[in-house]
Amino acid sequence: MKRKTKRGLIVAIDGPGGVGKSTVSRMVAEKLHLKYINTGSMYRALALAAMDAGVDLENEEALKVFCSTVEIEFDADSGRISVNGRDYSDTARTQKAGELASIISTKKTVRDFLVGYQRGLGEGGSVVMEGRDIGTVVFPDADIKFFLDASHEARAKRRLLELASTGKAGHVEVSNELRERDRRDRERVVSPLTVAADAIRVDTTEMGVEEVVRKVLKEIDARLKSGNIRS
Ligand code: DC
Repeated sequence: MKRKTKRGLIVAIDGPGGVGKSTVSRMVAEKLHLKYINTGSMYRALALAAMDAGVDLENEEALKVFCSTVEIEFDADSGRISVNGRDYSDTARTQKAGELASIISTKKTVRDFLVGYQRGLGEGGSVVMEGRDIGTVVFPDADIKFFLDASHEARAKRRLLELASTGKAGHVEVSNELRERDRRDRERVVSPLTVAADAIRVDTTEMGVEEVVRKVLKEIDARLKSGNIRS
């Protein structure tokens, strides 16, 4: 795969909830001096903003009107996210926001809107973009794609740890909610969570974060050395 354009490197990292994509992606981006773009935070913030505006999250038409009035801003340096000038960075990390995001992300109108925004952010390259559909839909021509996976149990444990800083949630509650979100992410009609044919699949069940980061960096390095991509 030879690079056709002169843009910078695009690294796509996809995978199910709780797998540790955000931590890994942030660390890889830091190491390679690339921008880190967390697309999940956009679905989360948009869902919260729609709720605040009293929009019915199940109503495509209402969501369409809402999206046409919305300005979303993701700051890659700080990772902060705001919608129509309101900062949702902290509330976006809660379990409630995750649930709402999982619902809103099944809607075509919302996906079209956010995918357009994400393409704009990443088109110049030099990014690590993380989500569910980056390698399949947002940047099918990404230079290198990873699909991180792990057992349900391992992911529930990681999610629980992640949520510890944002509020109280029990193991059973987190595990059940993750299962429901997995189902929604994988079964939705528009851009379901699937592994891109050319993605490097990494089962992280038995791996620590550092080990996953090392593996990802090694694969990128090998790809760069093979001359198929330029940094
Ligand atoms: O990665 P996350 O848990 O922050 O994502 C929250 C929800 O947003 C998740 O249930 C699925 C959705 N999502 C998506 O559909 N596509 C993306 N690129 C990122 C997130």
